[in-house]
Amino acid sequence: VKNTDYYRPIYHHTPSYGWMNDPNGMFYKDGVYHLCYQYNPYGSKWGNMHWGHATTTDLIHWKASAPALDRDPMGHIYSGSAVIDRQGTAGLGKDAIIALYTSASDENGQIQCLAYSTDGGYKFTKYEHNPVLRPFDGLKDFRDPKVFWFAPKNLWYMIVSADKEMRFYSSPDLKKWTYVSSFGQGYGAQPNQFECPDFFRLPVDGDSQHQKYVMIVNINPGCLFGGSATEYFVGEFDGKNFVCDDGPKEAKFLDYGKDHYATVTFSGTGDRVLGLAWMSNWQYANVTPIKQYRGANTLPRELFLFAKDGETFMGANVATEVRALRKSTRYVGTLKATEKAPKEEKNCLAGTGDAFELEMDITPSEAATAGFELYNSKGERVKIYFDTKAGKLVMDRTESGLTAFGEKAESHQIEKDFDLVEEKAGKAPSRKTNPVNYKNDFALGTWAPLNLCKGKSYHVDVFVDKCSVEIFVDGGRIAMTNLVFPTLPYESVKFYTQKGTATFKNVTLHRLGL
Ligand code: FRU
Repeated sequence: VKNTDYYRPIYHHTPSYGWMNDPNGMFYKDGVYHLCYQYNPYGSKWGNMHWGHATTTDLIHWKASAPALDRDPMGHIYSGSAVIDRQGTAGLGKDAIIALYTSASDENGQIQCLAYSTDGGYKFTKYEHNPVLRPFDGLKDFRDPKVFWFAPKNLWYMIVSADKEMRFYSSPDLKKWTYVSSFGQGYGAQPNQFECPDFFRLPVDGDSQHQKYVMIVNINPGCLFGGSATEYFVGEFDGKNFVCDDGPKEAKFLDYGKDHYATVTFSGTGDRVLGLAWMSNWQYANVTPIKQYRGANTLPRELFLFAKDGETFMGANVATEVRALRKSTRYVGTLKATEKAPKEEKNCLAGTGDAFELEMDITPSEAATAGFELYNSKGERVKIYFDTKAGKLVMDRTESGLTAFGEKAESHQIEKDFDLVEEKAGKAPSRKTNPVNYKNDFALGTWAPLNLCKGKSYHVDVFVDKCSVEIFVDGGRIAMTNLVFPTLPYESVKFYTQKGTATFKNVTLHRLGL
């Protein structure tokens, strides 16, 4: 299909036409990464859910395949996962690829179904005795099964989102499922609804003797800035209960932008935990200024745990494979900026067509703020800066280009209800505390806490691809993903401060392409 969309990313995965949301059923086998995704082949808004399908051998060049699962008379094919059944426990052959997904319809509700592939994950057959799991309590929101092998018990486990909690089930054969336990009521950001779980183990600070379990909980609403976000909980799991290290009130986010949702990881990658998220937010996902297709995934990210001030956090760094995108590099060197004398690199991005990576080490020193602006000749700009007084990294997209569509955005009803509750209690609704804009769900700033980082100098690695900005600080201790819609490419960079001098070291530009 010939691309007709100005904003289609150059080096991120997108469907050639139609709508995409969550990544689904991701696995790695025989050198090939498989990515399925929530897909509407009939239009560029949500509906008619299928599992679209694409593959890659290097995590950057994606090849489109026919949809892996088509919507059927039982319902939509909602999100889910896939595993390689190496021992053939399901009786469908050794090395069969087994997908678990949610079938969703008004008549049948949300029920978990199985499909299998014996050709390495291209053609799937739906199991004749579906569903394999229904909610025991008639719950309406019961979906997005993530399946994993739990060696200590020699069993498969499934974690399913169940409104405001996650439920664990176990099975010897991926077909008969037994309820194990639940986690999550009252935990993390409030108000919330749980969706798209993931569950895995990672070493803390790379120490294989010290491993922890991580539960990914994608929440909508619950994002600090409204709408959808990826939250996670770190703790212990004995095959029975997940016990979180932190108290219920603590909320930890994998990404501090507004366009990072439904993060899930590939199965079959050994010790490596590789995640992908959908770059949008349910508040405005259906109204972004795109026509032919709608929806892109983040760059593949390597997830890791690190300890800080007695707690364990999860970071997300761009996968090393992504370096192969660098087509040409310009080393700018060291720049010093003061409030009176910002430094401008005029037109340094010209010719990249908004497909570039910008790296630098920023030392804000005593400056109150230190950062940079990507801008074009129309005055559209993205500001990325360290607010040292508030201890925040901020990205401000209020003037980034097209933003008006954000006024049409539909905030989640749960969020509106919560605003009302707070207003009645005489409090400012928490979403209004976002400094920039409450009326427009798109035109705002997002921020991340700097105490996730180690020192007073920050390595900043920014990827821009037509309509997305992904920021990684200190190797992913902070990740921040936001969409932007400039009407001309950003051509120039301005390095600036407020109240003091800051150093921008090793400023490096890479033009990126496939
Ligand atoms: C998350 C989600 C899932 C659901 C899917 C439907 O974005 O709401 O919970 O399975 O999208 O497309």
